[in-house]
Amino acid sequence: MENTAKKTVLSCIQPSGMLTLGNYLGALKNWINMQEEFDCTFAVADLHAITVRQEPAKLRAQIHSTFALLLALGLDPERSTLFIQSHVPEHSQLAWLLSCYTQFGEMSRMTQFKDKSAKHADNVNVGLFAYPALMAADILLYNPDFVPVGADQKQHLEITRDIANRFNGIYGDVFKIPEPFIAKTGARVMSLQDPTKKMSKSDENLNSWVAILDTPDDIMRKFKRAVTDSEARVCIGEEKHGINNLIGIYSAITGKSSDAITAEFEGKGYGDFKMAVGEAVVEELRPIRERYEQIIKDKKQLEELYKAGAAKAERTAIRTLSKAMKKVGFVL
Ligand code: TYM
Repeated sequence: MENTAKKTVLSCIQPSGMLTLGNYLGALKNWINMQEEFDCTFAVADLHAITVRQEPAKLRAQIHSTFALLLALGLDPERSTLFIQSHVPEHSQLAWLLSCYTQFGEMSRMTQFKDKSAKHADNVNVGLFAYPALMAADILLYNPDFVPVGADQKQHLEITRDIANRFNGIYGDVFKIPEPFIAKTGARVMSLQDPTKKMSKSDENLNSWVAILDTPDDIMRKFKRAVTDSEARVCIGEEKHGINNLIGIYSAITGKSSDAITAEFEGKGYGDFKMAVGEAVVEELRPIRERYEQIIKDKKQLEELYKAGAAKAERTAIRTLSKAMKKVGFVL
């Protein structure tokens, strides 16, 4: 008989502040598309968020709002498993196990740890250092075939594969080795004000990033102010970081190639191009914001959905954790 089991997908997102156009184009948009073809599990990675200091009431609100946003994006709790990471304690348990199979040296090479510890020099905590072991646990618990992420998470995927291979090398085939899924367009959305830097919600310059929930006026204003260059030609170029970024955003939304975009704006100025990119982003995000405003009002329904999602996720998580624990020699 033909094997009709769908391939599986897992990914997570931190609830640390407003989600950005970078999160959307680099990861979330692919999640929505993958939902059609794959058996998907997606989580709000709240445990990861406390590697930097969070204000309790704000964190709680952001966890709710991130979960609501996943629904507003069109992720369907009937088809995919949607949950909040801390509701499935197996994530923390497997993270401990995996951290004992991860070398200090390999963790020390993580560029995100280096960046974040430079940024939060007053709080370089052990959790920030061990973060990739928790991320490896998030992934390996569900044996996914693919993990859709932006380019900045590639190194964390590589260490996950290394840890899984090491564990399997000792104990036999416990974990499936996952493949990163990094889209060709949108994998690295850059700041609108300094396009050599990644677009990030922690950027103090509010014109440098677009939130998924920004109003159309805010979005247009930010694109109008986006940094470009003095050449006045819409085309990809080595030193044209601002225009390259805008072409990438426009391409990720419209599906047009960069050559088609160059042809479309031949003879037109950057002003017209920035307006067109802004409008494309406004129209892409409008229905999401409208749905979000409805969904976030119904706290009771949200609670029902994230509880049901956690119960469903935990069934798989328990199975994988028990298998790993037995192999190591724990008494279960
Ligand atoms: P996080 O929460 O920082 O970002 C969520 C997703 O958005 C992508 N992303 C971007 N993509 C393109 N351009 C940008 N400017 C941009 N900014 C963010 C990220 O690559 C990510 O895919 N450690 C993860 C969360 C996580 C996770 C996991 C991911 C925890 N456990 C297990 C996958 C699997 C993180 O901090 O992503």
